[in-house]
Amino acid sequence: MIDLFLIHWPVPSQGKYVEAWKTLIEPRNGGRIRSIGVSNFNQDHLERIIGETGVMPSVNQIELHPRFQQRHIREFHGTHNIRIESWSPLGSGRLLSDPTLEKIAGKHRKSVAQVIIRWHLQEGLIVIPKSIHQNRIAANFDVFDFELDAEDLKTVRGMDSSDGRTGPNPTTAAFLF
Ligand SMILES: NC(=O)c1ccc[n+]([C@@H]2O[C@H](COP(=O)([O-])OP(=O)(O)OC[C@H]3O[C@@H](n4cnc5c(N)ncnc54)[C@H](OP(=O)(O)O)[C@@H]3O)[C@@H](O)[C@H]2O)c1
Repeated sequence: MIDLFLIHWPVPSQGKYVEAWKTLIEPRNGGRIRSIGVSNFNQDHLERIIGETGVMPSVNQIELHPRFQQRHIREFHGTHNIRIESWSPLGSGRLLSDPTLEKIAGKHRKSVAQVIIRWHLQEGLIVIPKSIHQNRIAANFDVFDFELDAEDLKTVRGMDSSDGRTGPNPTTAAFLF
């Protein structure tokens, strides 16, 4: 049994993501996959697969971090009970020396990575940071003994940028083919 199976990118230029979604529904209904979801789907992609199959993805894994907060599509996910999983949650490590986040980290006596991970959790996001170092993996779990306050959340909200994306844009990404 597979716990969660995702479509990695919609690649709209190929026009196959609805067909791919239908292909996942069958083994999910047959009990071979517990949950199915997508990744890098914009709202129009989600609306299309839901409209054509009536089946909601459990998860959409999208680029999301303090510099690219994707607030415009988060409401749609909430309404349809689709959980967002943040990829590159630490901005691929690029946010770890950000002075604004360093200030918040100093206030709570935590690391910047821990502040960012805590922010994802308080925003209701699923967060899976990547590290190859055992001590960092352990530290990245150690985020349940403090809480960001309203002022911290407001400060991080102010870091959002429409061009804060670090990876490809799902509307145009066709690099797999
Ligand atoms: N669905 C998609 O299209 C997609 C696209 C990109 C990424 N992802 C997924 O998202 C996950 C994470 O993304 P990501 O690797 O791009 O970025 P990330 O988790 O935002 O950042 C990883 C970087 O942060 C460093 N790091 C992690 N914890 C740290 C800590 N406590 N202190 C200092 N440095 C720390 C890591 O270095 P070290 O490893 O050296 O510790 C690495 O350089 C991965 O599982 C990846 O598969 C998905």
